[in-house]
Amino acid sequence: MSDTIRSVFGAAAATARRRLAGMYRQLFINGGWRDGSDGARIEVDDPATGDIIAEVAGGTPADALAACSAAERAQKSWAKVAPRERSEVLRSCWQTLVAHTDELATLIVSEHGKPLADAKGEVTYAAEFFRWNAEETVRIRGELAIAPSGANRILVHHPPVGVVLMITPWNFPAAMITRKLAPALGAGNAVVIKPPSQTPLTALRLAELLSEAGVPDGLVNVVPTKTSGAWYDAAVDHQAVRMVSFTGSTEVGRVLLRRAADRVLKTVMELGGNAPFVVFADADLDAAVEGAMVAKMRHSAETCTAANRFLVEAAVADEFTARLAEAMAAVRVGGGLEVGVSCGPLIDAPSLEKVSNLVDAAVSAGATVATGGTRLDRSGYFYAPTVLAGVAPGSPITREEIFGPVAPVVSFTDVDQMIDLANDTEMGLTGYVYTRDLSKGLAVSERIQAGMIGLNRGALSDPAAPFGGMKQSGLGREGSTEGIYEFCETQYIATSW
Ligand code: SIN
Repeated sequence: MSDTIRSVFGAAAATARRRLAGMYRQLFINGGWRDGSDGARIEVDDPATGDIIAEVAGGTPADALAACSAAERAQKSWAKVAPRERSEVLRSCWQTLVAHTDELATLIVSEHGKPLADAKGEVTYAAEFFRWNAEETVRIRGELAIAPSGANRILVHHPPVGVVLMITPWNFPAAMITRKLAPALGAGNAVVIKPPSQTPLTALRLAELLSEAGVPDGLVNVVPTKTSGAWYDAAVDHQAVRMVSFTGSTEVGRVLLRRAADRVLKTVMELGGNAPFVVFADADLDAAVEGAMVAKMRHSAETCTAANRFLVEAAVADEFTARLAEAMAAVRVGGGLEVGVSCGPLIDAPSLEKVSNLVDAAVSAGATVATGGTRLDRSGYFYAPTVLAGVAPGSPITREEIFGPVAPVVSFTDVDQMIDLANDTEMGLTGYVYTRDLSKGLAVSERIQAGMIGLNRGALSDPAAPFGGMKQSGLGREGSTEGIYEFCETQYIATSW
């Protein structure tokens, strides 16, 4: 580690980097470390340099099955633990993660590349799912009703599902695990996590910290792998597995759903997005540009919630584009631990290639580059923050999830035509609307087919709000009061007295 980084980020960075060098050569199963059964290794690189920073154990299908069996044993006892006690374990997890914010954030920067401030924000967000679900754990409600005939009582309660497979993405190496894990544990389940091969370090360290926070052995198992298909095929057939919770692309989600159908497993799917960001002529343009920067650029522009298409009323399209281009051009791009950086690299070379190809195709089709439009001339996977003006409605860059720092602007003159454009996608995760006219904003929000709308807001994620999509953006919800029930069954007992 360089002296500069050590002096700026201190002991937490040093600890995180030391861990990279020597630890996590094993899988986390049944509350402890164990070797992978075939000695496979996964190389983890730093996207800011492309250098290999760590090697972790790669699990086999046999390791996945061992983790499922450990989860099965642990879950039987955990389901009997009183909700208050489970809640207190979750609260202790929240405190432990908060206490390790700097270390976890540095680990996230190392393997994901996002700026340190975003990584710290992610740890706070990740920890908050434990605090929120500690509160939800003691409020899982049932129902008692008298049958219409009057003959019997209808008693409904919500036992845990059992063992849950969690397949998590690299864009939030901590928070996309805890958004699933905290409610799953609160409801009385045990889990087997397959973290992404790009960011397994945070997942392994999380499991270790949660164990220190009091999570009983076997409840949280982390098995990274290089052979995801075989891992999943084996685990999904383990007789104790009753649910699959996935965050990632719609393409992969469809494959997981098909396979989960073989065992009729419960599923929660948080899939891709293609968010329209609508700016009306009466919007506060300063607020709209500020919101656009957040909606587009948070976490290095690699979020499913990211604004993907800017639909701007023609009267302000030029002005909005110019202001957005100015804000994007001012973004300092670099390694996440470099001082002043607010946009890191993309996760890997294929992502860089995809973003670059989408921009080139849009430009060839007639879009103009207001700023950016190129890769950065340095090692790592960097792309310049880019604004494209005059993008043709329906062109590929408005149809694909970009997952990079590129803002295509399409202008509109008619509200109905804009709504048709906004909804002309199989995705329906998020949308954004900027206008000073609240009733227009609400009416337009209701017409956009998306599970989450930011109305005069560029950030909408909140553990207390239901996160999830319509259409092919997903099934089910995470967070809010709904999230914990996704990890529960519903049992009805007919009785009378
Ligand atoms: C995601 O990109 O999947 C999550 C974004 C968020 O929670 O804000």
